[in-house]
Amino acid sequence: MTRFRTNAIHIGQEPEQVTGSVAVPVFQTSTYAQQELGGHPQFDYARTINPTRLALEKNLAALENGKFGYCFASGMAAITAALSLVKSGDHVIAGSDMYGGSYRYFSKILSNYGVTFSYVDMRNLDNVEQAITPNTKLIYCETPTNPMMNLTDLAELSAIAKKHHCISVVDNTFMSPYFQNPLDFGIDIVVHSATKYLGGHSDVIGGALITIDSSYAERIKFYQNSAGAVPGPWDCWLLLRSVKTLAIRMDAHNANAMKIATMLAIHPKLKGVHYPGLPSHPQHTLAKKQMRGFGGMIAIEIGSLDAAKRFASALRVFTLGESLGGVESLVCHPVTMTHGSIEPARRAELGITDGLVRLSVGIEDIEDLIDDINRGLDAI
Ligand SMILES: Cc1ncc(COP(=O)(O)O)c(C=O)c1O
Repeated sequence: MTRFRTNAIHIGQEPEQVTGSVAVPVFQTSTYAQQELGGHPQFDYARTINPTRLALEKNLAALENGKFGYCFASGMAAITAALSLVKSGDHVIAGSDMYGGSYRYFSKILSNYGVTFSYVDMRNLDNVEQAITPNTKLIYCETPTNPMMNLTDLAELSAIAKKHHCISVVDNTFMSPYFQNPLDFGIDIVVHSATKYLGGHSDVIGGALITIDSSYAERIKFYQNSAGAVPGPWDCWLLLRSVKTLAIRMDAHNANAMKIATMLAIHPKLKGVHYPGLPSHPQHTLAKKQMRGFGGMIAIEIGSLDAAKRFASALRVFTLGESLGGVESLVCHPVTMTHGSIEPARRAELGITDGLVRLSVGIEDIEDLIDDINRGLDAI
């Protein structure tokens, strides 16, 4: 069996049969000529199936050690598809700390359709056990969480889900398949916002679900075709191209973030640094157990909105912007940006304060990133 970097470059991407094209072509078509009436060809309509998308789906499934991959027009479209596995009357347990857009979808859209949610701190899985009801059908979490970088023990979570016959779904966006594979711990479905590390260049929006379970796969595929939030072939091509360098990019993100977090951890102006690679992270032992690296995301506590504003506006290399996972470093203020849709009281409970700043550490020269951060800290 070949390994991660080889798989990233080759799986689903055999030379094209007609011309031998080494790069998977962009099959920019909406439909396919059929040989005969009633012939049921494999390729019939491009919402249902597209060869460029198929290549990406095979590739991502392999990288997550799954069997089935399905791609969507965005991470949110993938999450919507995962949550299509529950119906009115069902109960979902979700991590209390997660991307604001996922929380918005759960609390403002899906809850209008008779699905109930409990949000619990999944650092302690007793909270999940306690929240289980006879109607609980699905357990959903991010690990590490966005933005607090809290972890959930994947093996324990999957054991609880299996014991209570629930579907376990994990958003693996922050780690990418290079650093963490939730399916290896018995999780049923992995979610990706492909917009982030998989895309890696801040130029494409996409999402994916991966599973080894054929019955979930069938239902997801049916939903993908029925609801129709599929990515176009050009976006799939961009993602295929990007994933080839995922491993080297992730190593570079990880190395830069580790250096920056280590520097920030002893900085007198900061009130807290959240990065699972730091020995001071309360779940560092768990991080080492289930992750092969710690990624490029760091959350820091600067103290106040004013300090956060001054820090962000002094930066020259880090760009102020939503999103993460690109080669370019980004700085984000969760309260006013990515997590603005979470109620203020709830944000406060989670530790998402006015002074919290999230860094997506890119792969620029580390000296330039350190100079930039020092410039920001000097401005506080
Ligand atoms: C952890 C996580 N999951 C899902 C999403 C949603 O992905 P998309 O923006 O591609 O819809 C995001 C977006 O920021 C995210 O950070």
